[in-house]
Order: sequence, then C-alpha cells, then structure tokens
Amino acid sequence: MTTSSDSSELIHRSNRKPIPDQPHSSSSSPTWLRKQTTNRIITNIVLYRLPFLLIGITIAILFFYTFPLNDLDSPYYPDSSSSSLSSSTLPARRVLLEEPIMKKQNTMTRVPGGVRGKRKRIVVTGGAGFVGSHLVDRLIERGDSVIVVDNMFTGRKDNLLHHLGNPNFELIRHDVVEPILLEVDQIYHLACPASPTNVMGTLNMLGLAKRVGARFLLTSTSEVYGDPLQHPQAETYWGHVNPIGVRSCYDEGKRTAETLAMDYHRGAGIEVRIARIFNTYGPRMCLDDGRVVSNFVAQALRKEPLTVYGDGKQTRSFQYVSDLVEGLMRLMEGEHIGPFNLGNPGEFTMLELAQVVQETIDPNAKIEFRSNTEDDPHKRKPDISKAKELLGWQPTVSLREGLPLMVADFRQRIFGESKGNGVSAS
Ligand SMILES: NC(=O)c1ccc[n+]([C@@H]2O[C@H](COP(=O)([O-])OP(=O)(O)OC[C@H]3O[C@@H](n4cnc5c(N)ncnc54)[C@H](O)[C@@H]3O)[C@@H](O)[C@H]2O)c1
Repeated sequence: MTTSSDSSELIHRSNRKPIPDQPHSSSSSPTWLRKQTTNRIITNIVLYRLPFLLIGITIAILFFYTFPLNDLDSPYYPDSSSSSLSSSTLPARRVLLEEPIMKKQNTMTRVPGGVRGKRKRIVVTGGAGFVGSHLVDRLIERGDSVIVVDNMFTGRKDNLLHHLGNPNFELIRHDVVEPILLEVDQIYHLACPASPTNVMGTLNMLGLAKRVGARFLLTSTSEVYGDPLQHPQAETYWGHVNPIGVRSCYDEGKRTAETLAMDYHRGAGIEVRIARIFNTYGPRMCLDDGRVVSNFVAQALRKEPLTVYGDGKQTRSFQYVSDLVEGLMRLMEGEHIGPFNLGNPGEFTMLELAQVVQETIDPNAKIEFRSNTEDDPHKRKPDISKAKELLGWQPTVSLREGLPLMVADFRQRIFGESKGNGVSAS
C-alpha cells in the first residue's frame, strides 16, 4: 500500500526530466548541470574554505618559525628514553665545548665519531682516575679536544694538572648519576662507582650518546666472568657470577651496563663499543684501593708485609696501563662492537706476583697470609685472540718491565721522591 507522501513523491518525480542511471557521472550529465556544480564548488572554496586554509598556513609558519625542527633533537631537550629510565628529576647540565651556539645545527648531525676527519670532541667520564688520566694524555697528544667528567670520588686532580690551561682540555666536576649535556663525537665511559649507581651513570651516558649521535665506549670488566668455569676466558663465555654476593654489585652492575649498551645499540642505533678489562696496573693507581698490585707495591715500599689472601695460588693476569689505553683507542676507532677482552695473557699466582714485587722493591719483604675474601675468583686469564685478529692489538709491556715504572710513581707519592723514569713504558 502506498501512503500519501509516497504518492506525492512519485508525482513530483514524474514532472522532472528523466534522472540518468548514473547521476554522479559528469560525462553523462548535461552541460548546464556540470557548469552549475563547478560554480558552486568554486564559490564554496572562495567564500568558506580559503580563509580557513590561509589561517592554517599562517599558524603553521608561525609555529615552525618559533620551534625549528632541529631543536626537537637538540641537547636542550631531555632524551625521552633516558629520562624515562632515569630516576633523576634534577635538571640536566649543559656544557658546550668550543663550538658557539650558532653552529649548533651543524654539530647535531649524526656522523659517527670514528669517521670524522677533523679533531674529535671527546668526553672521558672518570678521566681523573687511573686509566682515564692516561687515556686523556693520549687523546690530547693526538690533538683531540677532551672534556673530563669526574666527581673525584677516587680520581685526583693531580692526575690531570699538566693539562689545566690547555684550551683543548676541560675538567668538569660532575656525578654521572645526574644527566649532563655535552656536544661531543665520542664518549669513553670509565666512571664507575662500585655501587648500583654504576647503572644510572651508564644510562645517562647512553642517553647522551643517543641525543648527540656520539659513539659510546663502555669499560666493562673481566669480573663479568665471575669465578669462571672456562679457562682462559673468551668473550663467548657467559660467566659464572654470584648475583647476591659481596662482589655482585660491581659484577652485575657491569653486566647490566653491557646489556644496556647493547640494547641502546639495537634499539636506538647507537654506535657502541665494549671492552672487558682485565687487571691493569701502572702509575697513578690509587695507593690504597685494595687492588692487589697497588697493595703489594705500597706495602713493600712502606716496609709492611705483603698480604696474600687465601693460599696465594689464585691466578691473575696483569696488564700495563699503556697497553690498555692503546686497546681502548683501537676499539673506539675500529668498526667492531665487541665485547673485547683487553688484558695481558701472562698468568701469575698471587705468590708469584709477590715475588716479582720483592725482586723489584725489597727482597726482604715478608709475606703474610690472610683468610680469603668471599667469591674471590680462582683463575683469571684473558683469551685475546679476538682483539688480536680484529683490532690488531696485543700487550707489549711485561710485568717485569712495567712494575718499576709504577714503583717510581708510588715512591714519589708516598715519600715525595723524584719520579725517576717517568710514566710511559713505550
Ligand atoms: N684498573 C683495572 O684494573 C680495571 C679492571 C677492569 C675494569 N676497569 C674499569 O675501568 C674503569 C676505570 O678504572 P680505574 O682503574 O681507572 O678506576 P679509578 O677509580 O681510578 O677511576 C674511576 C674514576 O671514576 C670517577 N668516578 C667514580 N664514580 C663517579 C661518578 N658517579 N661520577 C663521575 N665520576 C665518577 C672516580 O672519581 C675516578 O676518577 C672503571 O670503569 C673500571 O671498572 C678497570
């Protein structure tokens, strides 16, 4: 049944011209209808849409003029990934080296540090410490601009005194647990408090590397192998670490730091390098930090007995600091991520080391045995085949050559004597 409205619609339609089968096809529309439609569209645009379009363009121009795109990736803005991972809410410090602010855009390009031809801008965290200060010497000698970031926890200004006043050198007292913003090409991350804050410092430095596109080198340790069940230790060995022991804070902290470095590499494309450093000795070591070589040398010089923990048959390998620095620099400049063992494969028992110290300093020095510390690794010796093959690196200074150089430095610091034959073994 048809309603009255239905019938009126039918009547109305019947009075019109026949409606084509495809009413939207312009080819089949009559010319007058196409013209009318086009005019209506133009009027619509000019009267109603054009003003809005112009307002939109004006707002966009004003916005991009005020906040240029480059600034969103600049060090003025905290890195989202690192800040979300960092517990610190303190404002980041920002320090510019050399380049005036006007050149900021040029410095933000993500060119890997290793491939720049010009002088590199390098930050060394922990650069006032033992290894760091020797590394700084080499970098400055090479002609790079170096910023040391150190909170002087175990580092000493004395180690860097000879660079103060050099325009290519800058020392910043800063705790890496707090973020810091620096425009650099490479980051050597050595700062390492033996506490969980080690992880926070690594996170902050990885965040910095991501922000400015710098290459990042982590100084990890042979401690990641724990009390190893494989001997010598190759980089493929995953380690044997007690996660809740007295040493685990350092061991697991470094293992976590390696994990973070690899995650930033895989996830954010950061160029990372990982060095696993074995026992290193040399001038500028902390006198009383409990490391075995510095302990023995300081004790022998002070005419105290050399303290050997356990039976003294546990082994270690000892690398002279200049060999390590050479390895670190080759790693940073090379194309391989690592991890790489950097250590001297010469293996000594603690008793043998004590003997070398006696020969070098005082043949009458006594040895005193003490009970061993918990989780003390029984054996340590690096397999350095990978570093030899891919970095073309191997140690060149033997313990008997390197020890006298360290002894001269310790003598000078303990008794104020002349340094004698200096710092370099090369
Ligand atoms: N020397 C070795 O035998 C050896 C072995 C394995 C690994 N490593 C690693 O090499 C790196 C350097 O070792 P080192 O022997 O020169 O030690 P070091 O103690 O002499 O140097 C560490 C430096 O880091 C600084 N530092 C510590 N915490 C900091 C922080 N929160 N913020 C800023 N600076 C901080 C210290 O003040 C010091 O100057 C460390 O990461 C260490 O774990 C060293």
